[in-house]
Amino acid sequence: MSIPYLRAAGTSLVLDARGTGVPVIVHWGADLGDLSGELLATLADASVPAISPSSIDVPLRLSLLPTLAQGWSGRPGVSGFRPGRGAAALDLRLAELRTGSPSATGRALPGTQTLTIYLTDAPARVSVRTDLELSVEGVLRLRHTLTNTGVDPHLAAFELGSLDVILPVPDRARELLDFTGLWTHERRPQRSTLGQGVWSRESRHGRPGHDDSYLMVAGTPGFGFRTGEMWATHLAWSGDKRAWAENSALGCSVLGSGELLAPGELSVAAGASHTTPWTVAVYSAAGLDGLSARLHPWIRSWSTIAGPRPVVLNTWEAVYFDHDLPTLARLADAAAAVGVERFVLDDGWFTGRTDDRRALGDWFVDPVTWPGGLHPLIEHVHAAGMEFGLWVEPEMVSLDSDVARAHPEWVLGAADADADADADADAGAVSPALTWRFQRVLDLGNQEAFAWVLASLTALLTEYPIAYLKWDHNRDLLAGSAHRQTAALYRLLDAVRAAHPGVEIESCASGGARIDLGILERVDRVWTSDTNDPLERQQIQRYTSVLVPPEYLGGHLGAGTAHTTGRTSELSFRLATALFGSAGIEWNLTRANKDELVMIATWIARYKQLRPLLHSGVVVRADPSDPALELHGVVAPDQNSALFAQVALAAPRAAVPERMRFPGLAPERRYRVAPLVLGAAPRTIQDASPAWLAEQSSPGGGGASAPAPGLGVGAGAGLGVGGSVTLTGAVLALVGLPAPLLAPEQAALFTVDAVE
Ligand code: DGJ
Repeated sequence: MSIPYLRAAGTSLVLDARGTGVPVIVHWGADLGDLSGELLATLADASVPAISPSSIDVPLRLSLLPTLAQGWSGRPGVSGFRPGRGAAALDLRLAELRTGSPSATGRALPGTQTLTIYLTDAPARVSVRTDLELSVEGVLRLRHTLTNTGVDPHLAAFELGSLDVILPVPDRARELLDFTGLWTHERRPQRSTLGQGVWSRESRHGRPGHDDSYLMVAGTPGFGFRTGEMWATHLAWSGDKRAWAENSALGCSVLGSGELLAPGELSVAAGASHTTPWTVAVYSAAGLDGLSARLHPWIRSWSTIAGPRPVVLNTWEAVYFDHDLPTLARLADAAAAVGVERFVLDDGWFTGRTDDRRALGDWFVDPVTWPGGLHPLIEHVHAAGMEFGLWVEPEMVSLDSDVARAHPEWVLGAADADADADADADAGAVSPALTWRFQRVLDLGNQEAFAWVLASLTALLTEYPIAYLKWDHNRDLLAGSAHRQTAALYRLLDAVRAAHPGVEIESCASGGARIDLGILERVDRVWTSDTNDPLERQQIQRYTSVLVPPEYLGGHLGAGTAHTTGRTSELSFRLATALFGSAGIEWNLTRANKDELVMIATWIARYKQLRPLLHSGVVVRADPSDPALELHGVVAPDQNSALFAQVALAAPRAAVPERMRFPGLAPERRYRVAPLVLGAAPRTIQDASPAWLAEQSSPGGGGASAPAPGLGVGAGAGLGVGGSVTLTGAVLALVGLPAPLLAPEQAALFTVDAVE
């Protein structure tokens, strides 16, 4: 086992752990097939590079934790110092390597191969344990635990600078993809070429942020959703972090990731340890869809999601802070009438919360608006057959709140080290610091503050039958304690979940500013973005779902004119967009007209039928050459059925749009493709549709079919609803079908069903 070879689902990892050095990464990427011990040794030997001129006098090989002591002058895997003794030049040695040790997560996932590597630098009194797991889906995870092995309690602490996972990518991975974004425009892809140097993305928001790098992907030039070979990493952490790609004259390109630590933030005392977040690393030989094809089933294997995703009505854009029982009861009735299953009372329900300037932290039901507490509303919601959910923002505090007045020392940044600040704190004042949305952060690292907020949530969950918490986080921390705060957040979420295992939690951070695999272990839904504008949503959902399966991605049907952009969209486009995720509504339904309500009810009924497919299937996206067009879908794992959406983001490049090529179907099987109209038909240019879509037409022998009952309402504005065609999966993927001439900002849905 001195040359561990881990293989799963077409990917593999080879380490050279011979000798006493830190194990070398010989290969991470495609599966290399059966390799006996002798072949593995030959591979490891043959991978040793030449000694280059003007370099160290031994071959330079990338180890699992590269440092200067190994001749690695790129970003190091570990850095730190002991006060008074200068930077630690760690020279770690391999002490032990164990395979098959119990999963470091405590959640032994069947079939996961594990490797634990123990490294030590005895003179420096530092040891590192590296946990490495390869799941059956081919998802690789790595993390390090650094221990200060000094026994003398007076020995200085080890001040950790960085402790990162660094993985090699081959020379052909020359194109980078990572993400950036803004509030309501999250997950914007950006591409670059990996030249020499470091391309580094850093988050100092105390949360990943709207501009989170999300995934760092290095691939063969021009890679797309269906094509190209690529290597990707993601840090499963909800605080500050960095992800980078580095290429240098050393002749080795790498991807790196780790928590971004502020100077002095993490001090490892003698005898203590620090464990990093996991870096999740995925290889694909089949485009970005190939990454999702590994990540989604792996996430589903440990997901906390317990049942079908209920259709939600969230009150935010319907009423904002304007709460009163009669209005909300009418909204609940309207929601129940169209088939909503969970009614979520958003911000505005607690003491004095009349706007966003006050009251955060006072988690008591406002006695003026709610003289009978929330009971009358919850009873009304239950009587209408729905579950009840509640918005909270437990990590935050308004300065204008009873809790901040009583405990100014609980406000993050309140007790600064300088004497003036101490004096202010003694006098009961909160130190001046920037507010953001008029709010500050509650210092969860303060045990009393933590206990108080946990008690507040517990009291709410005990008094009221709450099925779901929408857990918000509406500002950056802007403090040097992101690690402490994030670790405390995880403890808080874990404590709430342990005490109330039936309560679901949604992670929201002004929309999608905290979507990562650290939080995903603790929540059942994420609020993908604060925008309900379907045009923005198409892009946000498309890229967010490369990593996160669609059942997590909250997507709401908003009002005709989006509140965040002012853009007006047709109902059919809004319905087709919100369908592909954890669907809901965020619109004052009491103002919707009768036709709209019928269409929404039709949509919800169909969503309920489709959600087993949408929430367990394989997410696929075609690579149209026209950037105005997108084709995406979900294919059932057994390839018996699929649902696709052809989306026109803008006017097409050509008068006749390029064909729809349906990916992911079984090549040899026959499928019937038919349009699905959910209440309202998409608009086409001059009512033009290809022959196969026209009513009663059946080129290819599919035969005419009647629209499914209840699905034809409002149809007929150009997109035929009676046509269908039956062809093989290979033909549908390679030749494709002529697309409808969709007008800009329209989407057409297609069901695809195997016929025997
Ligand atoms: C930001 C969230 O993203 C919104 O959905 C809403 O919950 C508001 N906060 C409430 O303050």
